[in-house]
Amino acid sequence: MCGIVGYVGGQSALDVVIAGLRRLEYRGYDSAGVAVLADGGLAAAKKAGKLVNLTKVLDERPLPDGNTGIGHTRWATHGGPTDANAHPHLDNAGRVSVVHNGIIENFAALRDELAERGHALHSETDTEVVSHLLAENFSSCGDLGEAMRQVCRRLEGAFTLVAVHADQPDTVVGARRNSPLVVGVGDGETFLASDVAAFIEHTRDAIELGQDQVVELSRDGVQVTDFHGAAAEVREYHVDWDASAAEKGGYDYFMLKEIAEQPKAVSDTLLGRIDGAGQLHLDEIRIPPRVLREADKVVIVACGTAYHAGMIAKYAIEHWTRVPCETELASEFRYRDPILDSRTLVIAISQSGETMDTLMALRHAREQGARVLAICNTNGSTIPRESDAVLYTHAGPEVAVASTKAFLTQLVACYLVALYLGQVRGTKWGDEIQSVIGQLARIGDEVEAVLDTMEPVRELARSLADRDTVLFLGRHVGFPVALEGALKLKELAYMHAEGFAAGELKHGPIALIEKGVPVVVVVPSPRGRSVLHDKIVSNIQEVRARGALTIVIAEEGDTVVEPYADHLVRVPVTPTLLQPLVATVPLQVFACELATARGNEVDQPRNLAKSVTVE
Ligand code: F6R
Repeated sequence: MCGIVGYVGGQSALDVVIAGLRRLEYRGYDSAGVAVLADGGLAAAKKAGKLVNLTKVLDERPLPDGNTGIGHTRWATHGGPTDANAHPHLDNAGRVSVVHNGIIENFAALRDELAERGHALHSETDTEVVSHLLAENFSSCGDLGEAMRQVCRRLEGAFTLVAVHADQPDTVVGARRNSPLVVGVGDGETFLASDVAAFIEHTRDAIELGQDQVVELSRDGVQVTDFHGAAAEVREYHVDWDASAAEKGGYDYFMLKEIAEQPKAVSDTLLGRIDGAGQLHLDEIRIPPRVLREADKVVIVACGTAYHAGMIAKYAIEHWTRVPCETELASEFRYRDPILDSRTLVIAISQSGETMDTLMALRHAREQGARVLAICNTNGSTIPRESDAVLYTHAGPEVAVASTKAFLTQLVACYLVALYLGQVRGTKWGDEIQSVIGQLARIGDEVEAVLDTMEPVRELARSLADRDTVLFLGRHVGFPVALEGALKLKELAYMHAEGFAAGELKHGPIALIEKGVPVVVVVPSPRGRSVLHDKIVSNIQEVRARGALTIVIAEEGDTVVEPYADHLVRVPVTPTLLQPLVATVPLQVFACELATARGNEVDQPRNLAKSVTVE
């Protein structure tokens, strides 16, 4: 949510910053802006709308180029997406420039205070107060790093700030509380960004900043302190993917590329974690086995798509371990006084590792004495840093705002955790588990097989482009899959889409069915749990009898559903608990194609941003 870039070095700061913003645009695209230090002064440009609007302005009115600069791509919080509210924000003298990600909660009091001292503020943002405060503090202490520390001590809320001052050339200063900020260290140049993707083409050597730290960048290196000026410890790391992973690679959209990458993403997430004898090796779960054995409850917290992965995990954990498991939206969990203690294992699932609702939920859980295990895709992000242990998913960078490959890898990680809990606790550890582990190890091929047969799904999506509503039904783990299918369609195609537990139909939602309404039904395997299968077949008949257009996702060889399916999408034979790994894929393809057919921005749906760093 909001992308920030800072640069000091020997290259054109404007070029580096604009290229970085291009890679961070997934974080917000309400406006964009840049500021550079050049010719002893400061030059800035900003524009509402996507980055392309800013680059047009820069083409018409080029900025003088220098070697130090900052940039911002915005997801609006305080103040609408206007030119005036776009970042960077300058002080009245135009000497200091600031970009910001997060929310400064006490900005109103600070703004009143500044107004009393004669400052004129021009935007509706919370950020502008910072540029004025920095200017005041700089004029008394003469150092931007110190001015930043003084200002940060006065700010409340979550913020990442990056600033430059015309009187201190060759310096970029950043500050971090809660919202992400990473440093890139190159040869004679340094970078600051919300995400390593912004500087990955220049360097893969990164430094992770901790909470409440201020970093001062020069060409030769970085200096990190806490908000009071004491030297701070940081973690240096090497990014294990390169710039090509964050490119479209010939696809029209990142989402298409990321859907296609799913077989590799799930296989990478399994790599090294299951041995040839079918035993799990999850050494990174550093929570002592005794604690896992004694846990009497598992609570999963997450948001959006990650929450759907958590809902599926609940079925797996309870079935394989017999430990009670609840899955809750992180934003609700935190504020309802949940019952937790040292015997509760909390699992926080997050692709970005920065989602504020999930972070707040895990902090609350730890305060109550619970152990927290993170499932996360972003190395060194805040959620794993603040958890007792982390199981990383290896999806690689996910750029499209709508999550696809991260979801599938979250599912794989959840299954691994569920099976590992079973292994450690010794409950229900038998032939079923061994067979599931075997199936899981081969799941990449199954996902590939689904992807190979998606043309009819794309065709169907195009034929439904003018519809208003699509409904999704599922039972058991098919229910969260239905919710995920509906979420993808809402966020990408901007259509009314709802997922229901099929058994709930008769309790109300069936009233929505009228002639021609498309209803997607996720059908569980007919093997083993045939009662579940029988029930959903009845549900398909119920909606069909009322005129629905049925789109049935069923496994190969399930002939029972054939008479009731207007459109039949086949997925490979998979144990019911693992079926979401294959059944979700057609729903992603369906939503992506429908959005394209409706002329929508697939990678950057309206009003959304990836990595939601505000509550
Ligand atoms: C939907 C989507 C969001 C995220 C949610 C949590 O396609 O991407 O619903 O799943 O914002 O994000 P993370 O996983 O980064 O915590």
